[in-house]
Amino acid sequence: MAPDGDPRPPTMVLPADDPLIIRRLNKLAGERGMVVVSADEAEGTPSVAVLNLDAVGSLSTARTWHEQWPETLVAAYSAVPDRELWLGAQRAGCDLVVNRGALVVKLTERLRDAPGGRALHRFPLFDAADAAGRLGCVFRTEDTPVGPLAVYRVEGRMWAVADRCPHAGAVLSTGEVEGTVVTCPGHGSQFDVCTGDRVRGPADTEVRTYSLVQDGGQVFVVLPG
Ligand code: FES
Repeated sequence: MAPDGDPRPPTMVLPADDPLIIRRLNKLAGERGMVVVSADEAEGTPSVAVLNLDAVGSLSTARTWHEQWPETLVAAYSAVPDRELWLGAQRAGCDLVVNRGALVVKLTERLRDAPGGRALHRFPLFDAADAAGRLGCVFRTEDTPVGPLAVYRVEGRMWAVADRCPHAGAVLSTGEVEGTVVTCPGHGSQFDVCTGDRVRGPADTEVRTYSLVQDGGQVFVVLPG
C-alpha cells in the first residue's frame, strides 16, 4: 500500500495471462479506484496482487511477492482442486486462496471495507528481540482490531493465528504445540498454525491466520483495511 500522504493511487497487480479474469479484475479495480499494472510495472507497494496458481513457477512467485511486498494482499486462484497447491500457496504467504470461479467475489468481499483501496494495514505486536531463540507460542494478546491473536515460531519463522478455537472459544495458545500443530485445550481439536487448517475435530472449520511483518525490530500483524 502507499504510505499515508502518498498521492499515488492504490494499485492492483494483475495475473500475466487469463483474459476473462483480467477483464473482471479491471472492472473491480475501476470500481475501487485502483490502477492496474503488471508485476513488472509495479512501483512501490501494490494494494493487491493477483496470482494464477496454475501458471509455471507460481509458488516461487508467491514467495517473492510476499517477501517483496509484505503489506500487499496477495490473492491466489486456481482452476484445479489441488490441495497441495493450495496449502503451498498459503504457506508461501498468500492472503487469499480460492478457486478461479470465486476469485472476484471473494476479493470484492475482502476489499469491501477497505477505505480508499487500502487493502491492508499494520498493527504493532511486540519487539522481535522478545521472541529471539524461542519456539512454539512466542506471543499472545487479547487486544487487536481483530481480537485475540497468538504468534508461533515453527519451521524457522513466525505465524499469527486467531487465539480462539472456532469450536467453543477456548484459548488456543494455552494448548500444546507439536511440529506445526496446536491442540486445543478445550476438546482436542487440532490446527496447523502455518495455514490455519483444521487437522482434527470436533471443530469443523479452520482458524484464521494473518501475515506478519518485521520492521525496525518490531513485529507487526498485517490486517484487512
Ligand atoms: S473449544 Fe476447541 S475443541 Fe472445543
